[in-house]
Amino acid sequence: MEDRFITSSKNWTDAEIENSLRPTSLDQYVGQKKVKDSLEIYIKAAKSRKDALDHVLLYGPPGLGKTTLSHIIANELGSQFKVTSGPAIEHAADLAAILTNLNKNDVLFIDEIHRLNKNVEEILYPAMEDFALDFIVGKGPSAKNMRLKIQPFTLVGATTRAGMLTGPLRDRFGVICRLELYSDEELQVIVKRSAGVLKIDIDDTASLNIAKRSRGTPRIANRMLKRVRDYAEVIGTGKITKEIADQALAKMEIDDLGLDFIDRKILESIIHKFGGGPVGLETLSATICEDASTIEDVYEPYLLQLGFVARTPRGRVALENAYKHLGIAYPENKGQ
Ligand SMILES: Nc1ncnc2c1ncn2[C@@H]1O[C@H](COP(=O)(O)OP(=O)(O)OP(=O)(O)O)[C@@H](O)[C@H]1O
Ligand SMILES: [Mg+2]
Repeated sequence: MEDRFITSSKNWTDAEIENSLRPTSLDQYVGQKKVKDSLEIYIKAAKSRKDALDHVLLYGPPGLGKTTLSHIIANELGSQFKVTSGPAIEHAADLAAILTNLNKNDVLFIDEIHRLNKNVEEILYPAMEDFALDFIVGKGPSAKNMRLKIQPFTLVGATTRAGMLTGPLRDRFGVICRLELYSDEELQVIVKRSAGVLKIDIDDTASLNIAKRSRGTPRIANRMLKRVRDYAEVIGTGKITKEIADQALAKMEIDDLGLDFIDRKILESIIHKFGGGPVGLETLSATICEDASTIEDVYEPYLLQLGFVARTPRGRVALENAYKHLGIAYPENKGQ
């Protein structure tokens, strides 16, 4: 588990390097053009009015740059940045304390916002809408509703699961951005940029090969770069050539599309055990002993993008491309 390449966890080995590789301005943030273009306009408008930026929801699979973008939003606004996360806020009072301590136009980042508990979430509604906290003082007939004003602020929420957000919370975000998987070319730019920051010498074919195996995900691209660098230092002079990169990547048991043994297990299981599907997520998860949410959040987005699986109302099905990639004959009676 520790050594797995494709995980949803952030603190794989070196959170510190991950931080050093984060771009700090919109200019340096590669790809996601649609998201960047709209944020740029909203940020400019908010700055010129000296208002807080509308609340922003960032969602998409792990490792695509949600946390990075939240920092960038604060940087571009020239605002203070405060960080917390859904599971870290246990009580309504904890969130109330955070909110009352905000300064004008601060950015409050709540990671994994779908994991806020109900009582805590309710504090957020008036805070987001009216910059106010509502609470009840006293008990019984003499109880009174009180409202406390707080400073205008921008909430940036991040989640891998937009579908798990409650309607009322989702509706309070003025800007909703969905991050997409990156193209190979964009990932190559990221790999080259990271190599520059880490002072790694890498040639163009090698950086493209790493990009192609990173399943659309900058975090995976950066991890791979670091692994290949280690390999290059032990085997050669430290320079990452195409040969060194290919050797190192082969050792990781990641194929030329970036699929690892879990991806293959998912596909083979749908094909061999369930006749190509449809099979429900829970059944699939039990069959391969892998968490359903890991399959859904971490593995599936890329398999969907490759056109290897499809989601149907009755479950997941394996598509012809998956059979081809695995070298399994596609049954003739399928797909008609
Ligand atoms: N657009 C980008 N340009 C350059 N580097 C990026 C970009 N997006 C992400 N990265 C790099 O990828 C790494 C992971 O990004 P980040 O931590 O922001 O992902 P995340 O979406 O918050 O993931 P999670 O859902 O697991 O919290 C960062 O170290 C960052 O350097
Ligand atoms: Mg994050």
